[in-house]
Amino acid sequence: MCGIFSYYGKKHNAPEIVVEGLKCLEYRGYDSWGIAYKSNDKIFIHKKVGKISDYTINKDHFRSSEISIGEVEDPNEIKISIGHSRWATHGGVTKSNAHPHFTEDKDIVLVHNGIFENYLEVKAFLQKKGHNFHSDTDTEVIAHLIAEHCKTHSFEDSIKLACKEIEGRYAFVAIKKDSKQLISARKGSPLIIGVGKNEDEYYVASDIPAFLPYTNKVIYLDDNQMSIIEDGKIRFYDLEKGKDIEKRIIEIDLDIEHAEKGEFPHFMIKEIMEQKDTLHRACNANSELIEQVANEIKKAFGTYIVGCGTAGKVCMVGEYLFSAIAKKHINFSFGSEFSCHKHFLTDKSLMICVSQSGETADTLEAIEIAKEKGVKIVSIVNVESSTMARISDIVIPIKAGLEKAVASTKATTSQLAILTLLAYACNGGIHEGKQLLIDTAGQINDMLNPRYEGYIMELAKRIKDVESMYIIGRGSNYPIALEAAIKLQEVSYIHAEGFAGGELKHGPIALISENTPVIALVANDECKKEILSNAMEVKSRGGYIIGVSPDNHEVFDYWIKVPDTGDASPIVNIIPIQILSYQLAVLRKNDPDQPRNLAKSVTVK
Ligand code: F6R
Repeated sequence: MCGIFSYYGKKHNAPEIVVEGLKCLEYRGYDSWGIAYKSNDKIFIHKKVGKISDYTINKDHFRSSEISIGEVEDPNEIKISIGHSRWATHGGVTKSNAHPHFTEDKDIVLVHNGIFENYLEVKAFLQKKGHNFHSDTDTEVIAHLIAEHCKTHSFEDSIKLACKEIEGRYAFVAIKKDSKQLISARKGSPLIIGVGKNEDEYYVASDIPAFLPYTNKVIYLDDNQMSIIEDGKIRFYDLEKGKDIEKRIIEIDLDIEHAEKGEFPHFMIKEIMEQKDTLHRACNANSELIEQVANEIKKAFGTYIVGCGTAGKVCMVGEYLFSAIAKKHINFSFGSEFSCHKHFLTDKSLMICVSQSGETADTLEAIEIAKEKGVKIVSIVNVESSTMARISDIVIPIKAGLEKAVASTKATTSQLAILTLLAYACNGGIHEGKQLLIDTAGQINDMLNPRYEGYIMELAKRIKDVESMYIIGRGSNYPIALEAAIKLQEVSYIHAEGFAGGELKHGPIALISENTPVIALVANDECKKEILSNAMEVKSRGGYIIGVSPDNHEVFDYWIKVPDTGDASPIVNIIPIQILSYQLAVLRKNDPDQPRNLAKSVTVK
């Protein structure tokens, strides 16, 4: 979470570059933002609560506020600006908790992403030494810790010492009033350096697209590494080994994916509609790569499939698909729960990680645990330049394209498609799997039309004011019921819960009263009879049954038709729920692209 963007170079509009860079990173956090700008040994700071995308930089505004960009006269002077878009962890959403954070005399200023786990201990120690704090954040403590070391050490050495004392994950960029250095350090949270065309110009950001308009030359900072930019040059230091290191500049051929909304009012609905194409791209996944991973699964002594949130639900579907199609048991775990499985890992185990961003801290930590045991790592990711892709042994890209809305939609169905293909490949049926997915993509293309949206809108209008709703499914559609609940919760803010159909009678059925909406996911599979009787149990207690199914059944009060796609039913069943969630968000006047309290990339544990 949180986006970092910093600039070092001669461009006179450094704050503007940082503000625009932060706008690209807003998906990482959007409750407040701030920038600091260094000019003539003075540091100016500007912070605001709210979304940076609503902000247009205005020189006059900056002149009259805390940043003056009019002060720099010498066009050759190096300009340094650091910025941050926040997703609150420590302390509420206030201007004083927004980054950058600084010491009292604004001597040391920094932006930070991650969690400084032992900050309270360190804060108490610093308070005893006379440091005063003005925010509730862990980040402010880092600034003071560096300042404390600066009493006896250089800025650079003080950061090295501070890094030894910080427990947890971090990525930060720091500047000091009387230093010409821009120093960055990373452990667990992403930080990438863009090397400008003139080579004496640098960008330091949480993600590459933020600086792609300026350069495609990148240096990936790895964990426990620090970069020092000074006098137009960059150096690197390994914080663990305690020595200088060399790093390679990599030229990437990533196009700037200018996700524009086009004719759509929101990214979420645009991305839902893009599933007409994205599924085709997933079906065209490299067959050799799929076969290679299938062989790894076949020979592994235990395969673990790991992800978080929506990606976690996709992994759960994978468990069912492998059982039904490949007759193979694989073990699912959420990233945050994976450490409990570590006792079963050996160097013959295999781990498959599923992630849109490739930056989810819980999944990355699961990989660290697995790697310590010598486990081979396969990742199924959308962002191919992500940390996860770089630390995995094999990467299957899902090619869904930039997903901007916080609620995952097109990445979800592409991940499901790749897992379906893998399950078929494990059973020697990759061609059959591809054909199934190509047919499914074609049917989704026919399904996604304005009439279909209008039909779901009728339902959305009917249920938009309910307090709670439930979703039931069985077999591979049980995790889809859980995923449907996430989608509804995230953007509509309606209380929604998913259940395995058979579990209702063991407790949750007590929640059903007159007209409680219950969505039943009814595929034409071996669970059909049972899920229909579960729906009937709900109806008998007054529930309003919304059936998502290829056929209309008597028990349904409202039928949403989906194509009959056999093993690909999880893919088609989630799509109408994505549309319904979006429509409920709009009807309830929520922002479906940037829902409250969330961020697209969850880089804290
Ligand atoms: C929900 C959603 C999240 C993510 C989760 C993992 O719509 O998007 O639940 O699925 O945070 O993110 P990735 O896939 O980037 O690892």
